[in-house]
Amino acid sequence: MIKCLKKTSELLLEREKEISPVGFVPTMGNLHQGHISLLEEALKEFKVVYFSIFVNPKQFGPTEDFHRYPRTLQNDLLLIEESIKNFPGLKVVVFAPENPEEIFPPAHKDVLSVSGLSTVLEGKIRPGHFDGVATVVYRLFHLIKPTKAYFGLKDFQQYLVIKQMVKDLSLPIKIQGMPIIREAQGLALSSRNQYLSSEQKSLSLVLFKTLSKIKEIIDHKKINLPKAKLFIEDTIKDPKWNYLVLRDSETFQEDLTLSTNITILAVYQMGTTRLLDNMQVEVQ
Ligand code: PAF
Repeated sequence: MIKCLKKTSELLLEREKEISPVGFVPTMGNLHQGHISLLEEALKEFKVVYFSIFVNPKQFGPTEDFHRYPRTLQNDLLLIEESIKNFPGLKVVVFAPENPEEIFPPAHKDVLSVSGLSTVLEGKIRPGHFDGVATVVYRLFHLIKPTKAYFGLKDFQQYLVIKQMVKDLSLPIKIQGMPIIREAQGLALSSRNQYLSSEQKSLSLVLFKTLSKIKEIIDHKKINLPKAKLFIEDTIKDPKWNYLVLRDSETFQEDLTLSTNITILAVYQMGTTRLLDNMQVEVQ
């Protein structure tokens, strides 16, 4: 069964009726298989899953794509309906407020900021972005009170910010990161891929290929890190790389001396579209 609610008052009434614990998938809509994989994982664990579709104005900078971000609610609902056919008897509540005031009442001025993590890499290029993400996710957590929430690991830094927020505020919510879903040739699925022309799409494969190459150079051995760093230094001479870096997957530190798992993170600029991707590698 699927219900679509547009008002916070309706959401709160519905939530009050639940007797089972609730899983939660927050999204900004324009759904693709990546989002559906989060939903399906949630449905494997919970009889009731809340799924939000909200293009959050607070996480877009003034020159970013908030106004042209694809809003495709009818199609999103069809995709959700299709995927819950495989889970008979389970319930999905879609919360899709059209008016931002449903989430941020006019008097709402609070901004939640996870210090440190929010101002490096993606946070440095998009000042305030992670404050906007943390603020809306906190607000949704507060309304929905899930037991567990699911986030795609494509936005790896976002995932770490949310985990840190939950830890700092001692929220009783488990955060699960879910693997990146890719097209056959490797491009990570993203709602923003539809901004790409077919030529740009094939040029974008350099992102997946470069991450794969760095992973191959590291080959699970810390001793290979200097070689990987030289390769990165050479690669980023091309200014289309907003960044291409190695970080500890737990601490997000640059110092990898004690790391057992490393994340290779990159943003590649394709025209006006910034393509994010990352890959993890275990190291000894
Ligand atoms: O990853 C996203 O789609 C968004 O940043 C999120 C987590 C739904 C918050 O608006």
